Amino acid sequence: MKLGTLDLANRYILAPMQNVTTAPYRRFCRKFQEIGLVSVPMLYTKRIAKNPKFLEHKLYKIEEERPISIQLIGSDLDAFRKSIDYLESYNFDILDINAGCPSRRAIRAKEGGYLMKDLRRLNELLRIVVKKSSKPVSLKIRTGFEKPMNIEEVSTLINDSGITLLTIHARTVKSNFINATLDLNTVKRLKERLRIPLVGNGDITTPVSAKQFIDYTKVDAFMIGRETMGNPEIFRQIHEYLTNGKTIAFKNNLELIKNYINIYEDIIDTLLSEISNPYVNDEFKFKELKRNSIWLMKGFRNSTKIRTQLSKIKSLLQLKASLKEIFN
Ligand SMILES: Cc1cc2nc3c(=O)[nH]c(=O)nc-3n(C[C@H](O)[C@H](O)[C@H](O)COP(=O)(O)O)c2cc1C
Repeated sequence: MKLGTLDLANRYILAPMQNVTTAPYRRFCRKFQEIGLVSVPMLYTKRIAKNPKFLEHKLYKIEEERPISIQLIGSDLDAFRKSIDYLESYNFDILDINAGCPSRRAIRAKEGGYLMKDLRRLNELLRIVVKKSSKPVSLKIRTGFEKPMNIEEVSTLINDSGITLLTIHARTVKSNFINATLDLNTVKRLKERLRIPLVGNGDITTPVSAKQFIDYTKVDAFMIGRETMGNPEIFRQIHEYLTNGKTIAFKNNLELIKNYINIYEDIIDTLLSEISNPYVNDEFKFKELKRNSIWLMKGFRNSTKIRTQLSKIKSLLQLKASLKEIFN
């Protein structure tokens, strides 16, 4: 499907999630179904401008993952310009700007979600990035800072900015992740005024919630984050429902989890065998495998106890022994 200037296999997008949607994670999720677009989580422009070397391991073989977007977060315009220059040598599809991160650090640095309350700054930033970048530019926002946005002001800003695609997480920066704060109304009203495609995001956890989100807001595509952690087949479940009306209930069991973890380990091992980078080593494998094993161990009897047990593990050797014991 066409999404702005992008040509994607479908309208499903894996959300950027720091320390979650790493290279192995993105490859893992794509094992179970086609995903139109995956996202590299936020990279700090200040850090890139100071030492671009670290990009080498973050963006290793990024071209194999296309279509893929890379997200930048920052406020200093010069650091943005430098970061875009450094990114030029990488082959990716879309440059995304973070205007939704709610962390105290981001707000203090006047970046991420802060931009939702400083639209002048956001406007200036977008214009500079669009002019500088050779790649299409997208933006990820929330429905407002503390209160819902002024739809007219934001839609005009977006329509005139030159960006290709907008993603909206359907809650304000200040509301964080509380369920009741999902605001599909603002998403729907914004969609009516936009001249570029809109990607909807927030609390899509089942095929039914995906359908409700799309039917109500009329967004062009949707992005899923947290539900993929432990249910890597969510996009397939949604696809089946949206195309055939078939509901595949997600029912976890140890056999399935064992298979998932084996696939994940294979993906990491393949990457490790290719990369000679001091950051990508056994410690990397341990961290990746541990946190994904914990996320995957859910939805069956005793799973909470097993997750607690896994969270205390300190080495790869111990982790492997523990998993062996669990699966036996
Ligand atoms: C652990 C974690 C890390 C995240 N990191 C980013 C990030 O780097 N950039 C970003 O735009 N959003 C980030 N987000 C927000 C997600 O992209 C997404 O907007 C949010 O989780 C809501 O979608 P969901 O309900 O499907 O999870 C993060 C969320 C989580 C839970």
